[in-house]
Amino acid sequence: MEPRIEPIDATLGAVVTGLALAHMDASTWKIVEQAFHDYAVLVFPGQNLTEAEQVAFANRFGDIELLAPDPEQKAVAISNQKPDGTVMGADEHRFKSLRGNEGWHTDSSYMPLAAKASVLSAQVVPSAGGETEWADMRAAYDALDEATRRRIAGLSSHHSLYHSQAQIGHLVQTGAGYGFHAKGAPLRPLVKVHPITGRPALFIGRHAFGIPGLDEAESRTLLSDLVDFACRPPRTYAHRWQPGDVVIWDNRCVLHRARPYDYAEVRVMRHTRVAGDPATEFASTDRDDRASAFEPSTSNR
Ligand SMILES: [Fe+2]
Repeated sequence: MEPRIEPIDATLGAVVTGLALAHMDASTWKIVEQAFHDYAVLVFPGQNLTEAEQVAFANRFGDIELLAPDPEQKAVAISNQKPDGTVMGADEHRFKSLRGNEGWHTDSSYMPLAAKASVLSAQVVPSAGGETEWADMRAAYDALDEATRRRIAGLSSHHSLYHSQAQIGHLVQTGAGYGFHAKGAPLRPLVKVHPITGRPALFIGRHAFGIPGLDEAESRTLLSDLVDFACRPPRTYAHRWQPGDVVIWDNRCVLHRARPYDYAEVRVMRHTRVAGDPATEFASTDRDDRASAFEPSTSNR
């Protein structure tokens, strides 16, 4: 049976049914990979993957980006639940990272090697809210007026997780967690050409700051105006999760954010990140003033 691909009523996204991600043959995988390039966000309802199956699915797209100190751990929990079963308090470091995820971003743009794709599966969902929402940066670029396109054509911005967390009052020490490193802030063009489809897309989001050649206020205004313009219908889709749903998205051409919920309730997601291709997702870095040191590296580890 061929999988059924139903486009979402937006410029991105499709719901894919009639297949088991854990048992795809070569022709089914080809269809999924093509749909990934066409739609940039694929929703697979009710897959109920084990952790090993999720990692194997992500691995079809490329190497896994290791997010935990243990190199054997290829999936991480994105959860407000502590090991003792209670929920995190508002002043806890991990909770502030979760709240940070509620701003539009692309994964690992603050690392030397930005991510290719991200896989998320729902384990425990709150009774309301807690959606994940995506915005299409290909369609956003296409919708820009000619003057804006010309203005941003040669511009780049730095990316930093210290920067984005500082915007919500979360000041973090170097070494305190993934992304809080001394490798420097990558400098990435505002327009990224997709390495497979060739489509230009805005490459922006909450981690972006400090456009060389613009003063701080101009840079901040331009970046926030671009996000504000880009992340609007018909370019957005918010997924209301059911446990067992799996979604993969293309970090090279979409932004995403988590939506709020009642933080007294538990929300547990399982996340696996697919590493970018060094030929197209690596960027050199400049000193990040918020880090304790500057030790450039070609590796995210
Ligand atoms: Fe994210």
